Amino acid sequence: ALSSFHISEEFGFLLPDPLVGVFLFEGSPQLAGQPLHHRGLGIAGSAPCSQGFSWQMPQLSPQQLRGREELHLAHLVLSFITMGYVWQEGEEANPPFLWLQQELLPPSYFVLANWRRKDPNGPLEMENLDPIIALPGGESLRGFILVTLLVEKAAVPGIKLVPVHAAAHDTPCCSYYVDPEVFYSVIRIFLSGWKDNPAMAHGLIYEGVSPEALAFSGGSAAQSTVLHAFDELLGICHRQDSEHAAAFLHRMREYMPPAHRTFVEQIRGAVSPRHLMLSSGNPRLRAAFNRCVSALAELRSYHITIVTKYIAVAAAKAKARRAELSEAGPAVRKAPSALEDKGTGGSHIFSFLKSIRDTTREGMIRA
Ligand code: ALA
Repeated sequence: ALSSFHISEEFGFLLPDPLVGVFLFEGSPQLAGQPLHHRGLGIAGSAPCSQGFSWQMPQLSPQQLRGREELHLAHLVLSFITMGYVWQEGEEANPPFLWLQQELLPPSYFVLANWRRKDPNGPLEMENLDPIIALPGGESLRGFILVTLLVEKAAVPGIKLVPVHAAAHDTPCCSYYVDPEVFYSVIRIFLSGWKDNPAMAHGLIYEGVSPEALAFSGGSAAQSTVLHAFDELLGICHRQDSEHAAAFLHRMREYMPPAHRTFVEQIRGAVSPRHLMLSSGNPRLRAAFNRCVSALAELRSYHITIVTKYIAVAAAKAKARRAELSEAGPAVRKAPSALEDKGTGGSHIFSFLKSIRDTTREGMIRA
């Protein structure tokens, strides 16, 4: 059953109605003497830090948390604090240290656990939703998180093994909710990681976890279980023309909740619709199968269009602005530039997206 993989019939890979209130930070020097249980999200806004300081995160170990819901919330809040802490001064001034429990390193719950309904009985629609925790970027950040969430939701019928093209309907349009300039110049840096990122080439030292710096990728759509599941289901093999793309996709599975990763791995071992199609020789079945593959390829083409608008064009505009600003003197804060050609997850953005789009197309079964 789906539930054994922590997948919901109603919400798919989203965590159903995530907890909003916060757990305890027992033993934390900052919060010593404070009452322990569920107190709201005050911690997220506390402790401003400057470069060069090693800020000790409140001690929070999984043993202190009750149940999966609290663990998800802990991941969510600590990862937002980390991202805000690391990138708060821009890409040229990141702090080298952070203190965190090993068990609270990836997976990423940036979207999956970061939502609540304004009206608890209302629908799962843009107007009735808010992220639980945010970073700079205002309405555009809200839009970015919630559009991603609604795409996850739109995929639920597909995940329940209804043909993929049914899931492609009604996908909310990002353009309407996210301003490209705000996305590029304000939001994007906070989604960046410290792996394959020239702005933080050596990773981050997680004190109390490892004496060596650890490198983690930033947020990426490649971490969403949905597309991995569809690829496995349809037998799409991202190996033919780019080892790099296949390796990157595979590595992004480390950022999925473990039960979801297991789900993806097990699809491969299950009955393969592709083999059924091939052995049946039925032209109608083949056509239906090919429509699914083609819908997936179209989605990937659309991804390239979005990236052109939100990254390539926005980067060119930011570059032009930087040139103007540098005439205004060095004190002017620059828009980030380290990830002009790369995704926040660290992929080589266009070659990666084109490669996976093309290998998806090659998954069509010819007569
Ligand atoms: N992965 C997206 C980017 O590169 C968010 O901007």
